[in-house]
Amino acid sequence: MDQNAIGVFDSGFGGLTAVKELNRILPNENIIYFGDTARIPYGTRSRETVLRYAREDVAFLRRHPVKMIIAACGTVSSVLGTNSPVEDIPFTGVLFPAAETACAVTKNGRIGVIGTPATIRSGSYEHAMHTINSDVSVTAMACPLFVHLVEYGYTNRDNKITRLAAEEYLEPIRNAQVDTLILGCTHYPIIRDIIADIMGDDVKLISPGEEAAKFAKRCLEERGMLTDSKEKGRNVYYVSDSVSMFRENAKHFLEDAAHGQVFSSRI
Ligand code: DGL
Repeated sequence: MDQNAIGVFDSGFGGLTAVKELNRILPNENIIYFGDTARIPYGTRSRETVLRYAREDVAFLRRHPVKMIIAACGTVSSVLGTNSPVEDIPFTGVLFPAAETACAVTKNGRIGVIGTPATIRSGSYEHAMHTINSDVSVTAMACPLFVHLVEYGYTNRDNKITRLAAEEYLEPIRNAQVDTLILGCTHYPIIRDIIADIMGDDVKLISPGEEAAKFAKRCLEERGMLTDSKEKGRNVYYVSDSVSMFRENAKHFLEDAAHGQVFSSRI
């Protein structure tokens, strides 16, 4: 039994997709979330810069009592690859849980991955999936505009601008006839409806934030580290930029983050 919180970080808001799933499957756990909103986006930065930011985000969370850390950011997870920034408590990114699920559910062995430029440049998704199953074929595509479209709230299913961008980005993935698509950036599940419309009903969409949350549950269960509290867990949010800006953006992801306890904190 461990009553400490689960620490979750992201470059900004996208990691809230993992928090939402954690709240659903582990309702009694406390969550401490750090969103590096002052330095978002990570996805257009160099590997060295992303690694430095990730180390600082982890150090921030470790100033709080956390029993596990989730890097709920596709970019950080991809740049880290198999490297863990912590040794003494469990850690997961979103990459391996999503890659495992994609390899498990594909029927035709053709998997698509979309993500930020840094994620796609890293080649980590291809590498992870080929390690699991060397026969799968992977088609990867960077979709740099998606993060901005989501943050500006261009998320309605009928939004013409987002739909146009999605049609363009997804064309090579459709042409590759994938049956499974990893939404390899934690922002993308917010425009899942648009992506689903373009990819068609037969393509399974994988949300890495959700997969990481499920992985975290299994990991804490196996180690006997789940809380035994019967009370509803609390989410506490820290951001490196303005609280009001976080609340405004967070409402696209998670109601609780728009109204709950949010603190601005220097990293
Ligand atoms: N959180 C990032 C990711 O999942 C997207 C936003 C960014 O570029 O920082 O890749």
